Amino acid sequence: MLISPRKLAAAGILGMNSRNHDFIGRYNQRHLYPLVDNKLKTKRLAEKYGIATPKLRFVLHHQYEVKRTARLLAQRESFVVKPAKGSGGKGILVIVGRNGDRFVKGSGVEVTLHDVERHMSNIIAGLHSLGGNPDSILIEDVVQCAPWLAAYSYEGVPDIRVIVFKGYPVLAMVRLATHASDGKANLHQGAVGVGIDIATGCALKAVQQSRRIQIHPDNDIDLHALQIQDWTHLLEIAAGCAEMTGLGYLGADLVIDREHGPELLELNARPGLAIQIANGIGLVPRLRHIEALDTVHQDAAARVAYVQKAFAADMALAG
Ligand SMILES: Nc1ncnc2c1ncn2[C@@H]1O[C@H](COP(=O)(O)OP(=O)(O)O)[C@@H](O)[C@H]1O
Ligand SMILES: [Mg+2]
Repeated sequence: MLISPRKLAAAGILGMNSRNHDFIGRYNQRHLYPLVDNKLKTKRLAEKYGIATPKLRFVLHHQYEVKRTARLLAQRESFVVKPAKGSGGKGILVIVGRNGDRFVKGSGVEVTLHDVERHMSNIIAGLHSLGGNPDSILIEDVVQCAPWLAAYSYEGVPDIRVIVFKGYPVLAMVRLATHASDGKANLHQGAVGVGIDIATGCALKAVQQSRRIQIHPDNDIDLHALQIQDWTHLLEIAAGCAEMTGLGYLGADLVIDREHGPELLELNARPGLAIQIANGIGLVPRLRHIEALDTVHQDAAARVAYVQKAFAADMALAG
């Protein structure tokens, strides 16, 4: 489905050029990027700021550490291997169980210790990092998603992406893993995106690979029935990431652990634009609305309360 640029603009859809020039370029200071481009730095920052993240077990910076760590992983039931500077779900290996000495991925596919070693070695060599630069590895615990939300996902932990502008949440979606997305909830890996109403936490629309859907392709669940619990609290955590990083335009990825509640997975200084399609709502009017405010609320909770009112009526327009 192709829509002309003019129609997209009329619908208030933010394009790549405007996003980069008018928002990322203007509101994100370059020297702050490393805080979010490196997941290890984000984790440490979040810890200092009192925002929970999945428990970190190992960090590797060098090839010579791979074999030793792999031996330690051989004792573990489950873990996630992640490139510190990866994006879009690339290079993330989610191991959810064991079958003898083999490791089982969320999809049921089994890999050997040698496979895990090779994967780690590739990460350090920079296979998944921005610009192919040498990278580090984070090995963290697998998030155990709250059951009411896990029911909507398939073979992977869903995450909640919130776009935060000048500290105000402006658009949100839940991303649900699919068999195709291999345990990751990134849209480019084939995950489903469900737009979530800022005011209520209720599902608005759902898309997969830019096509509108209503039923999850793998588990047949009705996506429109989804409502996020404790929604205001989640938005407040996302809004607080603006103070935490100093970034004016960011995407926060949150997960909901069944025991620990909301956790921050990562932050993005250049969040994708497909969230608009998942919501059936363009970013431009909301961004301009926030830009036009005379005074900004200092407190994250006050900012959330503001947008929950200001953007509530949009639902009717989304159709
Ligand atoms: N600790 C974890 N437990 C379970 N799933 C995870 C974990 N970390 C990442 N994932 C899965 O991988 C996806 C991408 O992870 P993320 O940290 O956001 O990296 P990226 O920058 O590649 O998007 C998440 O949406 C989630 O589905
Ligand atoms: Mg992410």
